[in-house]
Amino acid sequence: MPDTTPRGLTRLAFGGDYNPEQWPESVWQEDVRLMREAGVTMVSVGIFSWALLEPAPGEYDFGWLDRVIDLLHEAGIRVDLGTPTVVPPVWFYRAHPEALPVTADGVRLEFGSRGAICHSNPHYRAAAANITTRLAERYGDHPALAMWHVHNEYGVPVSACYCENCAAHFRRWLHDTYGSVDAVNEAWGTAFWGQRYAALDQINPPRATPTVGNPAQALDYRRFADATMRENFRAERDILHRLSPGVPVTTNFMTALSQCDSVDYWAWGREVDLVTNDHYLITDGRRTHVNLAMAADLTRSVAGGAPWLLLEHSTSGVNWQPRNPAKAPGQMARNSLGHVARGSEGAMFFQWRQSRRGAEKFHSSMLPHGGTDTRVWREVVELGAGLDALTEIRGTRTRADVAMLWDWQSWWAQNLDWRPSEDHDARERADAFYEALYDRHLTVDFAHPEADLSRYPLVVVPALYLMTEAAGNNLKAYVEQGGTLVVSYFSGIVDEHDAVHEGAYPGVLRDALGLTVEEFSPLLQGERVRVSGPDGSELSGDVWTEFLVPRGAETVWTYADGPTAGRPAITRHRLGEGTAWYVSTRLGHEGLDALLGWAAEDARIAPRADLPRDVEVVHRTGEQGSYLFAINHTAADAKVPLETSGTELLTGERAAGRLVVPAGAVRVVRLDG
Ligand code: GLA
Ligand code: ZN
Repeated sequence: MPDTTPRGLTRLAFGGDYNPEQWPESVWQEDVRLMREAGVTMVSVGIFSWALLEPAPGEYDFGWLDRVIDLLHEAGIRVDLGTPTVVPPVWFYRAHPEALPVTADGVRLEFGSRGAICHSNPHYRAAAANITTRLAERYGDHPALAMWHVHNEYGVPVSACYCENCAAHFRRWLHDTYGSVDAVNEAWGTAFWGQRYAALDQINPPRATPTVGNPAQALDYRRFADATMRENFRAERDILHRLSPGVPVTTNFMTALSQCDSVDYWAWGREVDLVTNDHYLITDGRRTHVNLAMAADLTRSVAGGAPWLLLEHSTSGVNWQPRNPAKAPGQMARNSLGHVARGSEGAMFFQWRQSRRGAEKFHSSMLPHGGTDTRVWREVVELGAGLDALTEIRGTRTRADVAMLWDWQSWWAQNLDWRPSEDHDARERADAFYEALYDRHLTVDFAHPEADLSRYPLVVVPALYLMTEAAGNNLKAYVEQGGTLVVSYFSGIVDEHDAVHEGAYPGVLRDALGLTVEEFSPLLQGERVRVSGPDGSELSGDVWTEFLVPRGAETVWTYADGPTAGRPAITRHRLGEGTAWYVSTRLGHEGLDALLGWAAEDARIAPRADLPRDVEVVHRTGEQGSYLFAINHTAADAKVPLETSGTELLTGERAAGRLVVPAGAVRVVRLDG
């Protein structure tokens, strides 16, 4: 059994991607000295080094990597060793040009960047297996080796290839999945627009078509592309397990939809020994710490609640957004410890030393161009000391209050073309519901729609367009057995083939919600509707309305105007021991807060009302104790009431009754008892 924690790492992980090959060897000594000064415990090495390790086919140069790893080992720094299979050397592409991926428009992408890979290409697979084997043979039992880092961020920048090799591979996948062309015709509904196939070998990838192509084909292609990348991950992982037994194997995920939407991380979470994640702030004017918390919660959920590791984030600005603001003083520590609060066993960065050349030279790093006399460096050193003081939390688990349902496959289906409204965005709804829960200081677990939900008093479904019958039954049973469910519109509509469930909308959710929807009536851009509640109060919605018919549910809020004026807008259904809420318009923050307030009462959850909105409080617990993380994202000092006394680990101070968290600071209390 491979271990699930980095081998030999006795502290929280702190460090970053280390690319010594971009620097003369004279710099390496200084790197290691400064790593020690900063308290670095682990670095990721070799992720993009294939061209240096195998400069010509079958010719290897491991000398420089030997020296780097030995140097790190002497300094007591653990090594997360990459397999460099995300960038094959140019000689490989010149020998096998068909290993370069092709877009849906038929453009073959060129060498000269990274991630230009057709994952179906047999030559690529053989070459990747070969370099992985060489590395595993050479370093598999090196005492510095903590874990293996396979590839880099599967799924980006190329999410799928549409070449002839992929076409053949797709047909094999269809054969394995469906057994016959008749079954494919049935699943894809090819009777529509005369798309029927007589044999599997007539089927191509969903390449550019004159107008909208077959949605079920497009959905299956995303599944196929994801499964193909997973095959390649498994091939490397199995080599590493065989030649480097006991060393955990991971690949860095990017669970945030805004960063990678092409990988079904529920499936990937089951393949890795340790879930690791990369996360970058998207600075689009929204509250970045809320998106960060969401990504961290999602990553923990993908890990099944077990500890995971943040393998990359940034000390300050990134360089790939239209505008890349620097982080404010203290923001890096809030970000790093925000991930730790939600289950990460440390905080790692891209990258250790800022590059002078290449595409990422304006991306922040632990050691900036300006060197050690910089704010970023001083904050890095401080963070290293802080993480060291938190060593004892290793292995504890974050405690969640509620669950939100999440399914990448539903997201893929939802985003296909020709829907009732292009303004309805599943990700926007998930973000909005998450933010409303965050603002009530509720910690969220994400769950697959077919997962056991019985331990959650409240389950929220912001937008789950695709839902299997099994998922529908699961939710019905959850409510009957006493759960409180909140469902937002356009959920439960289609099955796994993007076929509308039989009977009235919302298909598999009709019984749980006690209603049907006769017709969707999306609003025009900028159009708003008012909904009035039982107490005379008013909320407003946009984007979506529906002709909703209660069939057992009671109407709690009614449309006051708009195309569905006078009809139910928000309903509540008591079923068995539980309650199911349904909302048929896009509520703003105030509306979601009101709705979740009602639902929380049904679920007998009392969200904390004693904290300012942007003071984040999260708990990690384990055999060694119970820890309260308090992150103050505001510009004012905050007081966090404590149920028991405790010791604050970053300052060593005692706290009783309440904890003072200075403006912008983080505090972590080991609670007594
Ligand atoms: C990704 C990659 C890194 C680097 C960072 C920059 O996460 O894994 O190699 O490019 O982005 O933000
Ligand atoms: Zn291909």
